[in-house]
Amino acid sequence: MNPSLVSYVVFLFFIATALAAKQEIVKDSTGKKVLNDVPYHIGPVSGKGGLIKLTDTINNKKVCPFNVVQNPNDEVGSEFEFTLISNREKYLKTLWNLGVSSGYPKSKCEKSTFWTILDAEAKPPLNLITTGGRFEDETTCFQLVNYPKPTNPKVPSYMLQHCPSNCGDGPQLPCYNVSVYVDKGVRRLASNGTTPLEFVFYKLRK
Ligand SMILES: *[C@@H]1O[C@H](CO)[C@@H](O)[C@H](O)[C@H]1NC(C)=O
Ligand SMILES: *[C@@H]1O[C@H](CO)[C@@H](O)[C@H](O)[C@H]1NC(C)=O
Repeated sequence: MNPSLVSYVVFLFFIATALAAKQEIVKDSTGKKVLNDVPYHIGPVSGKGGLIKLTDTINNKKVCPFNVVQNPNDEVGSEFEFTLISNREKYLKTLWNLGVSSGYPKSKCEKSTFWTILDAEAKPPLNLITTGGRFEDETTCFQLVNYPKPTNPKVPSYMLQHCPSNCGDGPQLPCYNVSVYVDKGVRRLASNGTTPLEFVFYKLRK
């Protein structure tokens, strides 16, 4: 190999390691590795302020498809499975495309159980997280990111980003932080707020 080719290969190697180094195995509230494609609860760092929940009722009205909300009075929360796309690894990792599912369909209202954002740049309700999309589709494409400034540095916390372009062949769009959008007192998950929602994985209490 000529010297410039060698340095080019070395350069590529460093790029590849830099990229790979950014992906990290996701840990739960106790520091254990989080399993790929297995149900967990998710919620705020202290567990107070309400776990994340799937709901068919908002302000006493039925909604269809289901919405994803944070109910301050709910200490149980729903079970959600994070599933890496094209990756059968045992543990979840950050910065890898994934789908989030709420398990088995709970009513005819759910076309699918995958978290979906129809239009991340639109105003609510189009940018709210509901169920209904197809796995490995632009509307259901998310990734986990280490929370930049964790509330408690001893507890691994994450934010979720919706990255439509990563799973589709549509126009190149940025990733959007998933945040809480308060609508008539209800804390709903949406794609365009200011502060991303910081959350932790909790093992199911069984
Ligand atoms: C997403 O959240 C991070 C961390 O708070 C922030 O630095 C970034 O600007 C946010 N991105 C957008 C598009 O709001
Ligand atoms: C979402 O983003 C758009 C464009 O930046 C903005 O006009 C709109 O008010 C935002 N909606 C919410 C609920 O923050």
